[in-house]
Amino acid sequence: MKRFYTLILIFAVTSVLAQPMKYGAEPLHIASKKVWNKQVRPAVMSFFQNEVYGKVPPVQPKVSFRLIGEGEAFGGKVWRREVEMTIGTSKALVLMYLPSERKGRVPAFVGMNFKGNHQIATDPEITISPNAPKGKELGSDPERGAAASRWPVEMICGAGYAVVTLYRGDIDPDFDDGFRNGIHPHFYAEGQTKPHADEWGTIGAWAWSLSRVMDYLEQDKDIDHKKVAVVGHSRLGKTALWAGAQDERFAIVISNDSGCGGAALSMRKHGETVEAINRNFPHWFCDNYNRYSGNEEALWIDQQGLIALIAPRPVYVASASLDDWADPEGEYLSALYASPVYELYGKRGLSTTTQPKIGEMDADGWVAYHLRKGAHDITAWDWERYIRFADRHFGR
Ligand code: GCU
Repeated sequence: MKRFYTLILIFAVTSVLAQPMKYGAEPLHIASKKVWNKQVRPAVMSFFQNEVYGKVPPVQPKVSFRLIGEGEAFGGKVWRREVEMTIGTSKALVLMYLPSERKGRVPAFVGMNFKGNHQIATDPEITISPNAPKGKELGSDPERGAAASRWPVEMICGAGYAVVTLYRGDIDPDFDDGFRNGIHPHFYAEGQTKPHADEWGTIGAWAWSLSRVMDYLEQDKDIDHKKVAVVGHSRLGKTALWAGAQDERFAIVISNDSGCGGAALSMRKHGETVEAINRNFPHWFCDNYNRYSGNEEALWIDQQGLIALIAPRPVYVASASLDDWADPEGEYLSALYASPVYELYGKRGLSTTTQPKIGEMDADGWVAYHLRKGAHDITAWDWERYIRFADRHFGR
């Protein structure tokens, strides 16, 4: 009998020890790289998969790519290429701009856009997605180039990079319709009508599609697919972080003003809260994420865990000074709290321990941060810094 109780005790103690500790919103001081890789990282990944963004369902539709056109743009300085991506019966248009004067393969920035590929530049040849919002005056394409300030194509291509983008609405329109439109239905098992509580929402699907674009880029003879940075602003910054966390083929990950559910720490409850994001955007995360609405303390780990999943690949977190809703300090702290994981790999994280001032940056290590002056946006000022960061890490 005594032996029986001893065995029970040993079992209880070992199962408690086997439970990874709860992290909350704190610096991730992990005992060793081995402990991180073997125990903590898989647990963090599974937390974000099951509780936050949701898992990609096991049923997978066929994905294929087809070149639909190419030609000169921007007065010949840039080469446009358009590729149609078919996912089940859904179609998404991938727009690429490459530097015309390129010698061999070029590195690339890949990210989704908000309102359609045709809004990123005035280029009249960009194919307008049937899913994109229509211009007000039929035939005059008034929306072409409306988001050009967010996509300084000439500057990026001038620095020797390709720009690769697709419209979020081609993958999943950004409203709650119970997942009837977009790509989700192609992943339903027989009889399934919506994702399970631990299966992906819209951000998960957007992130998955960025990995499919990466599949294409691996085949494109003009792209150096070992040098692809994934980038996104705001909800698409959340998407870039989640894509980069899961897919190690993204060599650099850039989060621009991603805020709640992105880089910002949720437990600070500063600006947008988990309750607000789940109420206003019930389709973004998996259903399990509702457990944390008004209950952020229950999160097993905060968003610094998401950034740490990217280690040891370089990550850049950026904020804007007037963007209180996205909690700039919370975005900075996440980057700071993920930094010890980078150090396990011998890579320097952030150098500062207090948030850089407006217009300043901490971008010499593998984890970078800046606070731009101004509103919630992605601007040429941000891009200049991303290019510099990529140049350094890509040895250019
Ligand atoms: C809203 C939302 C944010 C999101 C932002 C955006 O403000 O609350 O979470 O990041 O939209 O995508 O611009």
